[in-house]
Amino acid sequence: MSTQVKFKVADLSLAEAGRRRIKWAESRMPVMMALRRRYEAERPFIGAKIAGCLHVTKETAVLVRTLVAAGAEVRWSGCNPLSTQDDVAAALAAEGTSIFAWHGMNTDEFYWCIDRTLDFEPTLTLDDGADLIFTVHHKHPELAARMVGGTEETTTGVHRLRAMAADGKLLYPVIAVNDAETKWDFDNVYGTGQSSLDGILRATSVLVAGKNFVVAGFGHCGRGVAMRAAGLGANTIVTEVKPTAALRARLEGDQVMTMDEAAPIGDIFITATGMKDVIRGRHFEQMRDGAVVCNTGHYDCELNLDELAEISTGKRVVRPNNEEYTLKNGHKVFVLAQGRLVNLAAAEGHPSEVMDMSFANQFLALLKLHREGQGMEHLVHELPPEQDQEIANIKLETMGIRIDELTPEQLAYATDYSAGT
Ligand SMILES: NC(=O)c1ccc[n+]([C@@H]2O[C@H](COP(=O)([O-])OP(=O)(O)OC[C@H]3O[C@@H](n4cnc5c(N)ncnc54)[C@H](O)[C@@H]3O)[C@@H](O)[C@H]2O)c1
Repeated sequence: MSTQVKFKVADLSLAEAGRRRIKWAESRMPVMMALRRRYEAERPFIGAKIAGCLHVTKETAVLVRTLVAAGAEVRWSGCNPLSTQDDVAAALAAEGTSIFAWHGMNTDEFYWCIDRTLDFEPTLTLDDGADLIFTVHHKHPELAARMVGGTEETTTGVHRLRAMAADGKLLYPVIAVNDAETKWDFDNVYGTGQSSLDGILRATSVLVAGKNFVVAGFGHCGRGVAMRAAGLGANTIVTEVKPTAALRARLEGDQVMTMDEAAPIGDIFITATGMKDVIRGRHFEQMRDGAVVCNTGHYDCELNLDELAEISTGKRVVRPNNEEYTLKNGHKVFVLAQGRLVNLAAAEGHPSEVMDMSFANQFLALLKLHREGQGMEHLVHELPPEQDQEIANIKLETMGIRIDELTPEQLAYATDYSAGT
């Protein structure tokens, strides 16, 4: 394999702007900085070659720098064609990271970048959406033999890897970073909640108050988005396929209905399901003139834009990340960020404070695999729950928050099965 290409980014002259942005993130990621201070002397990742495929944002740069400081060799690509922050990619390239990422790449270029991260025959893979690990399995299975493990950052990737493991097809162990409490219950909820609204506002600058705001999927991400839209004064409407999730949404105060019922009354639509074809031609056809539609799930297939194109007479870009489709019925529908994750394509992704915990989980999961991966079964593993408490504790400390501790008597009471009324 060729190891000639060291990096490929849009414009190296953006490096200084990228450095400033990364510095800003570092000032808001105290857990990551504590890990960096702790492990830069010990360098436990010596010998580890980490191929990463995850959105190239300022927070990701903090993770990359921390892995490198802890002794790892790293090669990186973005995990979505529209989510790379070009200045951050330039800053990483300028400081010697092998990074292959630029904003607006096409699908062939996307996989070319992934291939380049495999050129150095990695020992660990880090994924957000499983494209890298799938490339290893489908295109370069010979690399799996020396791989000690992989991590997966997001819900959609974890689902697919679990399916592979169930079929006995997984060639090395994977840790589901997504499923850690300090990831899933914070990043997906508060991170996606705030940053998706940020993306919608940057792409449209519409008033959210008073709008019918339709959220498809009331899982971790959808719950966060609905909560923040309600906070801005929207009338939130949730569509679901899971009865308990639908019930939870109703009791949280959202209206619940089918997408067919929501389509003609919604002003703003966002999908957060991890499922394809959630909004399709027949829904677009029913929408009000001026409706805004976007997705914050991992893949763009949640919106069926091919069917939208079929019922449209044309489209044009009206603002950055905002395309106006004119339907044959005369209505206009505005699609944000080409149906890609609106929070990353139209805004900056999750705030640094929340990625601090997600990436602390990534760092510790990779360290566990580097040390113990050889002996682990080729399954999707979870992180130990004690790690969540440790990460949350550091986070609380850095926020200046103290909490109570159970007394010895209370600890004994918790397991005392002789006590009654
Ligand atoms: N934008 C981001 O930065 C970001 C961050 C984290 C996760 N994600 C992605 O967002 C998606 C959702 O993640 P999550 O953690 O909320 O998953 P989740 O499993 O907690 O929730 C998904 C919900 O969608 C519902 N659903 C499935 N199909 C549906 C349909 N056709 N109509 C309506 N509801 C449907 C499910 O019942 C479930 O309640 C995934 O693709 C995940 O990878 C994106």
